[in-house]
Amino acid sequence: MKVLDERSGTAVDVRDRLAVALDVPDVRLALDLVDRLGDSCRWVKVGMELYYAAGNSLLDELRSRGYRIFLDLKLHDIPNTVAGGVQSVAKSGAELLTVHASGGGAMLTAAAEAAKTPGAPRLLAVTVLTSMDAAELSAVGVCSSPAEQVLQLARLATRAGINGMVCSAEEVAALRAELGPEAMLVVPGIRPAGNESNDQRRVATPAEAIARGASMLVVGRPITRAEDPADAARAVLREIESAFA
Ligand code: C5P
Repeated sequence: MKVLDERSGTAVDVRDRLAVALDVPDVRLALDLVDRLGDSCRWVKVGMELYYAAGNSLLDELRSRGYRIFLDLKLHDIPNTVAGGVQSVAKSGAELLTVHASGGGAMLTAAAEAAKTPGAPRLLAVTVLTSMDAAELSAVGVCSSPAEQVLQLARLATRAGINGMVCSAEEVAALRAELGPEAMLVVPGIRPAGNESNDQRRVATPAEAIARGASMLVVGRPITRAEDPADAARAVLREIESAFA
């Protein structure tokens, strides 16, 4: 399924707009899930739950099955440690890696420098978790609204040399306007109509998120807990496609 991406003027495979979150606790469940997904998706997101249990050998296995890897480790530590983390991930074959923008400018700059290592993944700066609303933010001492905080963190990451962000569908239009067509804007908290929001707060449908400027959507439970995950993934892809029409 190819769609014309107006921002780049090129035809893109709609599957490159979707990463399926493999939020399962072990290798067997992960491989069962990708067996069921087949080629309905191309990108899989491996987060801390699975990576800490399964490590790089699982990433090798997923890559040998043709999947591209988005490693969502959300690094957040002192600059030297995060830079070392990015360098270690460079050996894993992952193509995308997340760091927390709230780790600060020095940390983001060190991460961006480390991402110049051959084979290193492209970095995505996580702005404000989609599970956090204004009340949760103020409880950790941030008095700005989620929208203001996302913009501030995105500017910080951009100045540090990172032009990919993770944000919710509520902020993606503002970030697209601020950062321009080149930025990679990745949006989790996606819920196709009729799905439960679970623990997510700032949610949108796939079509809404794409129409507002998302480059890639992250979808977990609405696909992975569906009776037929490949069918659910294809339904999301059709919705993404409809937003390009
Ligand atoms: O199951 P669900 O679709 O809510 O999964 C969303 C995925 O996106 C999870 O793997 C979660 O860790 C991730 N994520 C998020 N919010 C962010 C960054 C990543 O929900 N800001």
